[in-house]
Amino acid sequence: MEQTLFDKYGGFATVSRIVSAFYDDVLDSPRLSPYFDGLDMRRLVDHQTKFIASLMGGPASFSNEALVRAHANLGIDSDDFDEAVKILKFTLEDFDLEEGDISRIIGEVVSRRHYIVTQS
Ligand code: HEM
Repeated sequence: MEQTLFDKYGGFATVSRIVSAFYDDVLDSPRLSPYFDGLDMRRLVDHQTKFIASLMGGPASFSNEALVRAHANLGIDSDDFDEAVKILKFTLEDFDLEEGDISRIIGEVVSRRHYIVTQS
């Protein structure tokens, strides 16, 4: 049986470190940080960890409907989305994931662009 990326890279312990590092950089981004003003970041990191874990074949599940609900009223445009994807890619590189594995994860995220971007 093929090993999942989730198991290959150390499960929730690694994914939650990746997500924390990702949000540190998101909050340093002048384009993205205003969207997160006043939010409970712990809750967000928790949800995002489940989301990334599910993309990596882990035991968590995260529905596309939940993604739509979370972003519906935020007015996120394509440039915001691209910036978030770029930061996620840098973060995955920092954690030394293999290039092919990074491409798979980023591909999964990019395929959900239309659930998140609501502004042209
Ligand atoms: C790379 C693409 C993105 C992915 C995979 C993603 C994923 C997620 C996930 C899984 C959640 C948690 C949903 C929940 O709590 O049920 C979330 C929440 C959120 N996302 Fe994103 N997101 C992305 C891009 C963005 C962008 C570009 C922005 C803003 C510019 C953004 C702003 C937010 C905010 C503000 C919340 C919290 C909403 C709330 O709790 O009310 N996201 N996102």
